[in-house]
Amino acid sequence: MGGKIIVGTQWGDEGKGKITDYFSDKADIVVRFQGGDNAGHTVIVDNKTFKLHLLPSGVVDKKRSLIGAGVVVNPKVLLKEIEIAQKTIGKIDLGVDPRCHIIMPYHILLDTSSEKSKGKEKIGTTSRGIGPCYSDKAARTGIRFEELIDKKRFKANLKKHYPLKRQILEKVFEVETPTEEEIFEEYAPIGEKLKQFVSDVSIEVHEALQKNKKVFFEGAQGSFLDINFGTYPFVTSSNPVAGSATIGTGIGFQKLKSVVGVVKAYTTRVGEGPFLTELKNDLGEKLREKGGEFGTTTGRPRRVGWLDLPMIRTSKRLNGLTEIALTKLDVLSGLDEIKVCVEYKCGKKMLKDSPTSIQSIEGCEPVYKTFKGFEINNIFKKKEELPKEALEYIEFIEKETGLPVKIVSIGPQRNETIEEK
Ligand code: GDP
Ligand code: IMO
Ligand code: MG
Repeated sequence: MGGKIIVGTQWGDEGKGKITDYFSDKADIVVRFQGGDNAGHTVIVDNKTFKLHLLPSGVVDKKRSLIGAGVVVNPKVLLKEIEIAQKTIGKIDLGVDPRCHIIMPYHILLDTSSEKSKGKEKIGTTSRGIGPCYSDKAARTGIRFEELIDKKRFKANLKKHYPLKRQILEKVFEVETPTEEEIFEEYAPIGEKLKQFVSDVSIEVHEALQKNKKVFFEGAQGSFLDINFGTYPFVTSSNPVAGSATIGTGIGFQKLKSVVGVVKAYTTRVGEGPFLTELKNDLGEKLREKGGEFGTTTGRPRRVGWLDLPMIRTSKRLNGLTEIALTKLDVLSGLDEIKVCVEYKCGKKMLKDSPTSIQSIEGCEPVYKTFKGFEINNIFKKKEELPKEALEYIEFIEKETGLPVKIVSIGPQRNETIEEK
């Protein structure tokens, strides 16, 4: 089979954790390739809920779980998550690439201070220090996992990079900062505990693919949060699109043939930024409650709206999608009617794809097609068993995107999943 990439096609929280867990059964390896603990992936098996931020969803099924070089790792969060997983799941089989950049307390302070200073113009980040850590990586002033686990190098790197950050924090943002020694005293022992997990993920994944083993690449965030192709500047600081799976793990693309786009049956967004199909009314509120649309990482209420097909068509191009996993169809159950945005009306122009910048979205209006509602109130096992109106909705998505909907998810549990083989 080789590699299968699982990516979010919207603004994150599409159900990537659930879909990755569904596939984990067949996996030899599950690997994360970008993002950090801004991700919040929920897996529910036999009524037990696992909320994962850094650990790949494969841990739930005790599969070899890897964190590739493209991920930014908060060591404190990782250690806590490992300890929780060891209690709830048992032994976990984890590998962390030594090249991963680590999130230090000053990255978090820089994230929160910079957001505060932006006022109304804020991005609405998860306050996890993601942007400042990736900035340091690009500026070549970051600290890597291989240094964290080597006390001498960790100390030397803190000494080299922290003083300037500290000055910025204290003099520009006027916030209190920990001393270099305090950071070292807290993080060196964490590094010591995490040392056992270091592994060259590039070599592991490459060798597994050479042997035709099954490797699942678990994306975080969503295509419209991509720093190149998302609604910039209201994006994250990494590339959630599928191409990132190669550079975020350190392999070539020859064995990566299938890309699953996880599409929520409606749209949600956390944080600021444009959202053309947003429902700012009672119906939006109802869907938020029914879908449990509150952030897994921050608990913030997610903004809710209708499915936006120009976004999914654009995601198909950006990711090279080969199939769709449609999630949360059950949340639309019981509505009289359901709308889908088929194109945008931008002045006199009609657009089938999403525009390249948020400036060009301004003034665009969604054009909707309306579908009859349906009821999903039991665990259907086959696609054909779904109500006729639900099938019409799915077939319309297939026709408009030119992609097969191979998985339909009708509940958060692992067994509430229909797969078309
Ligand atoms: P991720 O970040 O893409 O992994 O998604 P999240 O875990 O942040 O958010 C998805 C939420 O929807 C979680 O609470 C899941 O348990 C839940 N979920 C996933 N698939 C379904 C589904 O088909 N139906 C319902 N009702 N909930 C689902
Ligand atoms: P998963 O993997 C939804 C959003 C934040 C904010 C923007 C930038 O669970 O789908 P950041 O902290 O990354 O600098 O925030 O990106 N964001 C997410 N939204 N799901 C996520 O991850 C997200 N990770 C970041 O809300 O708008
Ligand atoms: Mg999430």
